[in-house]
Amino acid sequence: MAASSGYPALAELKGRDFLSSTDTTAEQTAALLQLAADLKAGRTRIDLAGRSLGLIFSKASTRTRVSFTVAMARLGGQTIDLNPQVSQVGRGEPVADTARVLSRYVDALAIRTFAQEELADYAHWASIPVINALTDLEHPCQALADYLTLQEAFGELAGLTLAYVGDGNNVAHSLMLCGALLGVNVRVGCPQGYEPDAGVLEQSRQLAGTRCSIEVVHEPVAVVRGAHALYTDVWASMGQEDEKAAREAAFSGWCLNEELVAEADPRAIVLHCLPAYRGLEISAGAMEGSSSRIFDQAENRLHAQQALLAALLGGT
Ligand code: CP
Ligand code: NVA
Repeated sequence: MAASSGYPALAELKGRDFLSSTDTTAEQTAALLQLAADLKAGRTRIDLAGRSLGLIFSKASTRTRVSFTVAMARLGGQTIDLNPQVSQVGRGEPVADTARVLSRYVDALAIRTFAQEELADYAHWASIPVINALTDLEHPCQALADYLTLQEAFGELAGLTLAYVGDGNNVAHSLMLCGALLGVNVRVGCPQGYEPDAGVLEQSRQLAGTRCSIEVVHEPVAVVRGAHALYTDVWASMGQEDEKAAREAAFSGWCLNEELVAEADPRAIVLHCLPAYRGLEISAGAMEGSSSRIFDQAENRLHAQQALLAALLGGT
């Protein structure tokens, strides 16, 4: 069965890139979550036998690397590690050459890098789908897994409120954009100076229209009050190691802890993309408490990315 049969909204994704949460429509995003849920439950099967995914990761990764590798294996395909350290990428071979050569060998590329522009450059030169496996601007694969986890907890996503407590970073950006597509209200709470990118905020609000709201607030309790999901991420992302001490000072009072969890909807779930620093952006109690779905969320990377690969590669 083609990935698109039974999921007609996915047909147009075959051969396409996934560089941003905005590369799928609202309908396609919802269909990806449905396919992910069906794959997870064993209600459907996809075959990507003989297909190969290249991984070019310029930053560390546990979840994304392993979940893409296992996702391809479960679909009958394989992955090839093309990290800069083991390929000519690390010795400066131009993106234009690398992308065109790899397009002759593999069926898709998942790329983790710093600048979104570099990812776009790969997509420009490659003739195969390019997937954003995290840039400084976005982490769209993460957002798919996150909303799958929220959907599992509440059934229906539209009308729910996700409160993101912390740095207005790549993870926050994709949560805002993907949330806007799915009709989820997203409240980002952060200290002054650590807001999400103004362009992403505007784009999210445009996508949300009157369906849901995308807000930025500067007071922790106001962010989480009545929310259905409480989400946080590290205060210093990869590449911001030099700012760690300054950020820890600026984010003092912004730990997602049990007191904040108590202000949310009683059914609220706690999420974190991981890796986490207990005692900084999240308390050990919030992380290990009964509301935490953090490890289900990590598992869902596998299911969400199987659905994404099936759609982009047109699995049968
Ligand atoms: N959440 C996430 O992307 O984790 P990794 O950095 O381990 O891939
Ligand atoms: N914001 C974090 C996410 C890690 C998965 C980073 O970019 O380092």
